[in-house]
Amino acid sequence: MTAGAWRAADGGTGMLSSVVPDTRDEAWLAALNDRHFANLTQSEVTRALRALSSCYVERRDKLARGGALDGAGKRAAFALFYGPQHFVLTRAIVRSLEIAANRVIDLGCGTGSAGAAAAIACGDVPVDGFDVSPWAVAEANWTYRVLGLRGRATEVNLKRLKIRAEPGGLVLASYAVNELPDEARAPLLAQLMAAHAAGASVLVIEPIARRVNLWWKGWAVSVLGAGGRADDWRFRELLPPRQRTLAKGAGLDVQEMTARTLYLPERKPA
Ligand SMILES: C[S@@+](CC[C@H](N)C(=O)[O-])C[C@H]1O[C@@H](n2cnc3c(N)ncnc32)[C@H](O)[C@@H]1O
Repeated sequence: MTAGAWRAADGGTGMLSSVVPDTRDEAWLAALNDRHFANLTQSEVTRALRALSSCYVERRDKLARGGALDGAGKRAAFALFYGPQHFVLTRAIVRSLEIAANRVIDLGCGTGSAGAAAAIACGDVPVDGFDVSPWAVAEANWTYRVLGLRGRATEVNLKRLKIRAEPGGLVLASYAVNELPDEARAPLLAQLMAAHAAGASVLVIEPIARRVNLWWKGWAVSVLGAGGRADDWRFRELLPPRQRTLAKGAGLDVQEMTARTLYLPERKPA
């Protein structure tokens, strides 16, 4: 699927109107800038973004050791670039899949942006974030507050989390499952399937790179077998302007954003 455009989405392009920014997004992005550029320069953040991206793409062994978020520069780069990127991406996906939910549970919530986007797209429903990183949890709580959401993030290792999904809720895992150790994935998939059986919908978002996600095929078989769907997405020009500038500086692709999803819609009572 292809969709996107941060601006001029209503300009007869046939692109998704969902990506037109509103003032709330703009206020959040401006606050993010103030927060993270207070102690770092543009070139420090750009350098850190380059290092962080290499961590996600080439040095994945560092992820399991928490290496992605291990310094002020990388944290700022994550919050300023990947946070907004996952926000616009998640919002576009949730709207395209026409997901409706009364609450969002965000597993591996990071700075809270993907869960916040889903909560907003579902009509400003409450969001519960969970992450192993105390820094990420603090950032997620800040994100929810600045975006005016009823949200709370909690520090927990997903290996130990008991997912309490209610009927009508959405359980989201955005760019988080691939960071788990292999032995934690099967129990998590079992919990997601149980959440679905209990009446929740489930959305897993991951990068398309196949060598990163060798587990994907097995998860897709389970999700499709339970009546779900698997999609690859390609969005163009979705990034907000500040994030485009950062990405350009770090040598990342600013034109195109891709992702893949597994989605289990809420079961309707027979
Ligand atoms: C790439 S970030 C994605 C964050 C967020 N979901 C998003 O889309 O922006 C992955 C997140 O998963 C978290 N994480 C990794 N392993 C975890 C675990 N075992 N338990 C809880 N969180 C974990 C990391 O701390 C990080 O915040």
